[in-house]
Amino acid sequence: MSTFKAPKGTYDLIPPQSAAFLAVREAIAAPLRSSGYGYIETPGFESVELFARGVGESTDIVTKEMYTLTTKGGSELALRPEGTASVLRAALEANLHKLGNLPVKLWYSGSYYRYERPQKGRYRHFSQVGAEAIGAEDPALDAELIILADQAYRSLGLRNFRILLNSLGDKECRPVYRTALQDFLRGLDLDEDTRRRIDINPLRVLDDKRDDVQKQLVGAPLLVDYLCDACRAYHDEVRALITAAGVVYEDDPRLVRGLDYYTRTTFEFVHDGLGAQSAVGGGGRYDGLSEMIGGPSLPSVGWALGVDRTVLALEAEGITLELPPATSVFAVPLGEEARRVLFATVTELRRKGVAADFSYGGRGLKSAMKSANRSGARYTVVAGERDLAEGVVQLKDMESGEQEAVALDAVVDKLRSLLA
Ligand code: HAM
Repeated sequence: MSTFKAPKGTYDLIPPQSAAFLAVREAIAAPLRSSGYGYIETPGFESVELFARGVGESTDIVTKEMYTLTTKGGSELALRPEGTASVLRAALEANLHKLGNLPVKLWYSGSYYRYERPQKGRYRHFSQVGAEAIGAEDPALDAELIILADQAYRSLGLRNFRILLNSLGDKECRPVYRTALQDFLRGLDLDEDTRRRIDINPLRVLDDKRDDVQKQLVGAPLLVDYLCDACRAYHDEVRALITAAGVVYEDDPRLVRGLDYYTRTTFEFVHDGLGAQSAVGGGGRYDGLSEMIGGPSLPSVGWALGVDRTVLALEAEGITLELPPATSVFAVPLGEEARRVLFATVTELRRKGVAADFSYGGRGLKSAMKSANRSGARYTVVAGERDLAEGVVQLKDMESGEQEAVALDAVVDKLRSLLA
């Protein structure tokens, strides 16, 4: 061990477990890539102001959880705590919305940073795969995203997750509800901090986890009862489309998300095997965000799924992903001459598209064969002085254990046809 450790709230992804992470990222991205979403990558940091305006001045993310820094040039930057504001910023900056091709559908995958109290499933550095569909108000788009996330999770074999669905209304109906909720909350017995919250962000009070608060919230007004006709019709259509697709969801009139930009459709994917940090993914519609960051009106919808928590969900369900071994052929040279010859064979295999690895460091047969086994290679090529004198190598099928001598100049083609 060195003097240093990974910073608090972070962990390293190392083989072999890291392979599952890659597979999860790919499984989440796959349905997006085949549904018209193009890949976007944005910087790991942005101006603090983007998140303050986008995610919301009163959210925990902005007030408590951002990693901020002042550059030597005096710019106020923050490590990105989420992806939506950055992706929309980038789309506007590149004028993607002006290409006459709305919605602009984008997907991304990367690291995000929140200064949270670390616990299982909650880290200061975590990984998301996300999708944003920018510039269209169409319930089918909301439904598409929910269906694609469901498809991604199912393709991984996950079963014990639930989809919670809600509507947060729009600028017509939400203020009416907000006032009604504030009136209700002001009549409760709450501490100073929570009372302050009533003024700034009353919806967040509904999300308070404490028992004594929850007890008082039983009769709180619900947004569903305040939705305007347009929001209600929109929400009903989203629900009908999801249902028609055979995706099961639960109406959760108390679902509140931790970011301020949401309007209308909001949803969360929760997994029942994860304890307190049960949200494996979440998202929703954010029709006003573009204007909040200085852009034109661009109603949009998106989600982000947490890769770390999805991996934990797989563990909780006892699912081991069946990943093909990374190496197909492992070469074991015995002696100097064999080392040169087999190194050339491995190079040729790789150039011809066969995944191959080599026993380095002049190790003996026994320890080299251990590495061959661990690599998961289907075939091992072994050669010593005697083999080379005869112009052959020993080709071992690691599955059947059978071994045969193959002419050195034929072994690459033979392996290619065996593996084809
Ligand atoms: P979010 O709900 O804040 O939404 O994060 C989405 C997912 O990221 C969570 O469900 C969780 O799996 C994962 N996550 C968040 N924080 C942590 C953490 N500290 N440790 C581990 N995993 C974490 C967003 O970020 C929105 N940008 C989603 C969105 C996209 N809405 C519209 N478009």
